[in-house]
Order: sequence, then structure tokens, then C-alpha cells
Amino acid sequence: MATARNVIAALMCAAAVVGSPAVVFAQSPTFGVGHAPKPEELKAIDIEVTPDGKGLIHGSGTAAAGKEVYTRRCETCHGPTGQEGPQDVLAGGQGSLTTSRPQKTVGSYWPYATTLWDYINRAMPFDHPSTMMPDEVYATTAYVLFLNGIVGEHDVLNETTLPQIKMPNRDGFTSDPRPDVGASPKKRSQHQ
Ligand code: HEC
Repeated sequence: MATARNVIAALMCAAAVVGSPAVVFAQSPTFGVGHAPKPEELKAIDIEVTPDGKGLIHGSGTAAAGKEVYTRRCETCHGPTGQEGPQDVLAGGQGSLTTSRPQKTVGSYWPYATTLWDYINRAMPFDHPSTMMPDEVYATTAYVLFLNGIVGEHDVLNETTLPQIKMPNRDGFTSDPRPDVGASPKKRSQHQ
């Protein structure tokens, strides 16, 4: 008898174990959420631009054109010359990084102009991110660079010229020497 009871208990136990995943699998489809992303859905969120300019969308703009867009869509938060705030200061501070009062701005700190395009394209204006057309992104990028004295008012920025800009602090970054961090360009750029 004792043996028979043990067998029954063991069988119930096994049934419970086998039963649990079955319950999970049986419930999943009833939620009806999620689906495999379609290629066009993936394309819509695949907006990354790398430092060498891969991923830049076709378009162009100058600081002269960007002034109007900047005044309308950026100035309330970043100030008329990018230095007044109230939000992040975008211009000035060049040469300050080695002083006792370092000021990190696009002009003093950012190593790549392509990152500026990527950031404005994906995150700005802060209250309506990703709503600007590619030409507007090139133009506001040009204007922020112009406010930093990095490009001229009529220099045309596009997917070819933007990656060629050498930012003032481009060589101010060093590789991370820790052996577990590795030295691949991808890892290096993640740390910059
Ligand atoms: C409603 C306010 C607002 C508007 C409008 C706005 N920004 Fe910003 N911006 C912010 C805030 C807040 C941050 C900081 C975000 C963070 O740190 O996550 C920021 C950060 C930035 C930075 C990064 C600065 C740095 O050194 O880290 C750039 C570049 C920038 N904005 C450009 C723009 C441009 C160009 C526009 C217009 C197209 C714009 N912003 C419009 C609020 C705004």
C-alpha cells in the first residue's frame, strides 16, 4: 500500500511539473499582445547614426537656414546663442575643459558632429522629439556648429560633408586602458 501511495504521489507530482509549463503556454496566446516586427516597422526605429556617418539620411542644410528653425523650435529652451539656457548650454566653453571650471558643450566637448545630427534627429525638440524633416535636422545641426564657430554660415552640411568635420575636442578622448573593456572601435566609441 505504502508503495502504491508513493507511486500515486509521484505521478501527481510529475503531473504538476508537466502541467505548469502547459498552463503558461496555454495562456500566452489568449493575451493577444505582440507580433513579429515587420521590416518597415524595424526600419522606422533603426535610426542610429554612427560617428563615421553611417545611417545619415539624405538631405542638406546651412546655418543660415537653420537660424529660422532654431529660433522657432529650440531657442525657448537653449537661448538665442545657445549659451543662455534655461536648458543645456550648447555653445561656448572651448578651451575650458582643462581649467578648474570645465564647461561641456557641443563645441567644447563632443567628439563627432555626426552624433549631434543623430541626437537632434532622435531626441529634439525635447517636447516633440523626432518630428523634424532631415533638412531641418541638417540646418539646426549647422546652426549649433555655427554658434560654436565650427562651420561658416553658408557651409552646406549633408551626408558627405558632415562626417568630415573635425570637432575641436576630437582628440581629447583616450581609449579605456582596462583589459576587460577591450579595444574594438565600437567599444571605444561607446565610452566616449
Ligand atoms: C522644451 C525644451 C527644449 C527644446 C524646445 C529643445 N531642447 Fe534641446 N534639450 C532640452 C533638454 C531638457 C536637454 C537635456 C536632455 C537630457 O539631458 O536628457 C536638451 C539637450 C540638447 C542637446 C544636448 C546638449 C548636451 O551637451 O548634452 C542638444 C545638442 C540639443 N538639446 C539641441 C536642441 C535643438 C537643436 C533643438 C531644436 C531643434 C532643441 N534642442 C530643442 C530641452 C529642449
